[in-house]
Amino acid sequence: MEDLEKIREDFIRESASIDSLIKFNNFKAKYLGKKGLITEKLKRLSSLPKSERRDAGRAINELKSFIEQELESLKQRVTELEIQKKLAKETLDITVPGRYIPPGHIHPVTQVLEEIIEVFVSMGFSVEEGPEVELDYYNFEALNIPKDHPARDMQDTFYVKVSGSNKMESDVVLRTHTSPVQIRGMLKRKPPLKFIAPGKVYRCDADVSHTPMFHQVEGLMVGEDITFSHLKGVLERFIHALFGPETPVRFRPSYFPFTEPSAEVDIGCILCKGQGCRVCKETGWLEVLGAGMVHPKVFEAVGYDIERYTGFAFGMGVERLTMLKFGIDDIRLFFENDLRFLRQF
Ligand code: DAH
Repeated sequence: MEDLEKIREDFIRESASIDSLIKFNNFKAKYLGKKGLITEKLKRLSSLPKSERRDAGRAINELKSFIEQELESLKQRVTELEIQKKLAKETLDITVPGRYIPPGHIHPVTQVLEEIIEVFVSMGFSVEEGPEVELDYYNFEALNIPKDHPARDMQDTFYVKVSGSNKMESDVVLRTHTSPVQIRGMLKRKPPLKFIAPGKVYRCDADVSHTPMFHQVEGLMVGEDITFSHLKGVLERFIHALFGPETPVRFRPSYFPFTEPSAEVDIGCILCKGQGCRVCKETGWLEVLGAGMVHPKVFEAVGYDIERYTGFAFGMGVERLTMLKFGIDDIRLFFENDLRFLRQF
């Protein structure tokens, strides 16, 4: 019992000088560790005569919980102290200027792409996606462009070799347009439907107005009584949203295998306002997209009843629209990643 009293006094005295976490941990071990004073005492209980054991045990445990409580609050004090010590050493100069992280901004092509999507979404179109590595069937065949069709010559295709597959080399292509998403979208659902399909397309072609990869936005609307007037209304509205409500729009007869009739859509030249200039080649008009009424062969390819359904489709090149909108004369600038160019938009 006297021992215990001495341990208690020592503990209290020593605890006053504990002022770091290292000292604290040693201090704790000295009393409660495996070979600690309290632990040793408890171990020795069994060697006491039975009559003394109970009182001794109770006294040791009482001291033990006293020490545990004290250590608990001592630990808080010491932790606090350590923080104070660190803060005293630390000097913080709040006048040092922050590190500059230059903010990036959205690429001009992406800006225009997002704007296009927004206009069509506001007219109730949903957004579909399709694969960039596409089957010849979806890219050409189902769109009424058979193997020997001269229209294939208009698109310089990248063919993909599929290793370990029994597909012919020419069965898989990098899609040359977003039109295959028309087929995939129609197979996935039933009319009435209207969606756009934005994305990357690829052609083996490169000059001031062509890059091997560029972006298109496809559009498709199918229902029981969709007419050419709907096509005109939707596209006029789109062009007015993108280029301003005063922009003249012209539909010119054209040919695409997957539409009949087909049209190319021109807008009044935004640079010369229709007067005639270098960009519009003195015509006053700029071609911005292709469109038409979905060809019955295309509906047959997806199993739609051609007596019941009609629809229109359109496709546009996003780089071309971006060039016209911002007055850029070389498409390659978009992909050189020269910040002096990109920062202007
Ligand atoms: N796919 C055509 C191209 O890349 C563009 C196009 C024309 C899409 C007419 C259409 C369309 O949906 O109706 O040249």
